Amino acid sequence: MSQAPPPDLQDKHLVLGLSGGIACYKSAELVRLLVQFGATVQVVMTEAACQFITPVTMQALSGRPVLVSQWDERAPNNMAHINASREADAVLVAPASADFIAKLAQGRADELLSLLCLARPSERCPLLVAPAMNREMWAHPATQRNVAQLRADGALVLGPGSGDQACGEVGDGRMLEAAELCDELVASFQPKHLAGRSVLVTAGPTFEAIDPVRCITNHSSGKMGFAVARAAAEAGARVTLVAGPVHLPTPRGVRRIDVTSARQMHDAVLPLAPGHDIFVATAAVADWRPLQAGEHKLKKDGSGRPPTFELTENPDILATVARLPAEQRPWCVGFAAESENLVRHARDKLQRKGVPLIVGNLGPATFGRDDNALVLVDAAGERELPAASKLALARALVAEIAARYRPRPNP
Ligand code: C5P
Repeated sequence: MSQAPPPDLQDKHLVLGLSGGIACYKSAELVRLLVQFGATVQVVMTEAACQFITPVTMQALSGRPVLVSQWDERAPNNMAHINASREADAVLVAPASADFIAKLAQGRADELLSLLCLARPSERCPLLVAPAMNREMWAHPATQRNVAQLRADGALVLGPGSGDQACGEVGDGRMLEAAELCDELVASFQPKHLAGRSVLVTAGPTFEAIDPVRCITNHSSGKMGFAVARAAAEAGARVTLVAGPVHLPTPRGVRRIDVTSARQMHDAVLPLAPGHDIFVATAAVADWRPLQAGEHKLKKDGSGRPPTFELTENPDILATVARLPAEQRPWCVGFAAESENLVRHARDKLQRKGVPLIVGNLGPATFGRDDNALVLVDAAGERELPAASKLALARALVAEIAARYRPRPNP
């Protein structure tokens, strides 16, 4: 049993800035989550933000007095903007109102939060901005111009989301939810090993229909594959996830295609494969399917004899992708879920599937769990990634893949 992993924002010190907007109510939940993720948080609020939520609330949740004024005499040097920005690993402004974004775009500094954003050492303290406003304000060319300017200046713009707005209208401009902002922040701290790359991942089990209500399947939960998809997206890749039937949320920024059977997974993957640089096959694809699925539910006939049905082999998706012509073939990674002799089976699979890397894990020990242990087997040898959370292992695996990856030849 592995120890609980360190929280994702352990040892991080954040400045959370609030400007004026009804989405300030979400920032209370956000600060709680950031603290739960292990961060220390210094909240800074504009005067307008104090109209929507009190500094008392934010102080109680962050465990630190909130900064609201650049003239705050509590700082011995009277330079709250310098002190707070020098300590911070990142500044997150959530909510960022249209007015506050305009200020940032112009480099104005007439109150503490904008002053602090301008004064931060930008090369080591990134600025993340979560816009929150009415849809017309968001769509206005002035706002779009300002947001483009922020991006050009190096800020990371998170969202906005779309949906019902406090004003009763529906559209773009909602601040992302607290959990989504936390995920974005965690991702922003991950090394960008796969920036500019694209990754195709299969995950989960497949269901092979026996009749309309029964199927052949397996215990795969999809958690490892979803963690690989998330880790690849965090590392800067464009990620497509082809998922068998699982009940897992889609990692942020990942395009997901749901399938049920091995043949559907095959038919989804094959046209996508040439458009991706890397293919990671984590799915536990059923090896066989009933040759003929019953049109109606098979019934007991009273004879005491169970029905029989013939099985046929499913297409091997990984082996098919690995046999694509070199100029269409992504760099392929296979998984081997075994119950014994992990390295021998994994090495055997490396040859049989013709792929540069096989990742072995003990299937029965990991199915459905949040932790795992991996062994990487390639032509050069073996490397163990010891027991850890699936997400931590997926991040380590992505780094290993990035180190081994070789681009395919140009057509
Ligand atoms: O042959 P075996 O099922 O043991 O190989 C496992 C690896 O091959 C995994 O990466 C799995 O996703 C992939 N696979 C596949 N299509 C199949 C069977 C396995 O892509 N039909």
